[in-house]
Amino acid sequence: MASVPDSAEIPIVRTVAELRGRVKAWRAAGAVIGLVPTMGGLHDGHLALVRAALAACGRVVVSIFVNPTQFGPGEDFARYPRNETQDAKRLAELGVHLLFAPSAEHIYPDGFATTVTVKGMGEGLCGAHRPGHFDGVATVVAKLLLAALPDVAYFGEKDYQQLQVIKRLVLDLDIPVAVEAVPTVREADGLALSSRNLYLSPEERAIAAALNRVLAEVAARLAAGKTAGAGAIAWGLKELEAAGFTRIDYLEVRDAETLGPVETAARPARVLAAVWLGQIRLIDNMAVEPAG
Ligand code: PAF
Repeated sequence: MASVPDSAEIPIVRTVAELRGRVKAWRAAGAVIGLVPTMGGLHDGHLALVRAALAACGRVVVSIFVNPTQFGPGEDFARYPRNETQDAKRLAELGVHLLFAPSAEHIYPDGFATTVTVKGMGEGLCGAHRPGHFDGVATVVAKLLLAALPDVAYFGEKDYQQLQVIKRLVLDLDIPVAVEAVPTVREADGLALSSRNLYLSPEERAIAAALNRVLAEVAARLAAGKTAGAGAIAWGLKELEAAGFTRIDYLEVRDAETLGPVETAARPARVLAAVWLGQIRLIDNMAVEPAG
């Protein structure tokens, strides 16, 4: 395998005009273009998205933008991890072709007045507990997709509701981009990688692994034919409490595509949860295969 020189660097652009200029030249040369939107604080979960993009696309842009509009008052916008130098180095080492790292003023200039809302799908689950969150996500993702106009954009299944909201947005607004879902990357004990895991104390980190275990068991119970209300979900809620999570926002089973409520896994379904350990909110989800 070719070694990567220490001096590996990645071009960084900060405006939509510069981004469009680069993409236009690549497209003229016939390249397939991939976009990986991120908020930085890159971990192996993000790098899995980047690797998927590099495997399928001749040119890959990663965006890093900690989007203020998807954080509610009192949420962790101010302390969200930011280290552009380190992130840029990791992306350069992987061979990413361009980093788009705009300022908040560039994305939301004075007078900015448009919000994209994906009704229904963005309202329950995290949407109910983080009012306005998916409006912020949908608005910035629409902007990023329209700025880069890639052939393919990559999003992680870890943020499953976000993924479905973005698929709907792309469909509804006829944005000519394929949305590619990449499976969740986990620690050895099952904890889904997240930028927020950094802030867990050792005690909280030990408890956090129970989230994946409980979701897997709930999914298995649903697949075995137990109904959501009567069996699997009630069991899962008790297990999460017993494991030591300090608050449970939700543990629910939903249709895997529409995110509508379901009682059984007659169609592909997804178990989704959001829980708290002190100040840290964790989300995760698990596929439930139809009961057959
Ligand atoms: O998943 C994320 O990191 C963000 O929600 C996204 C899609 C980059 C939009 O800000």
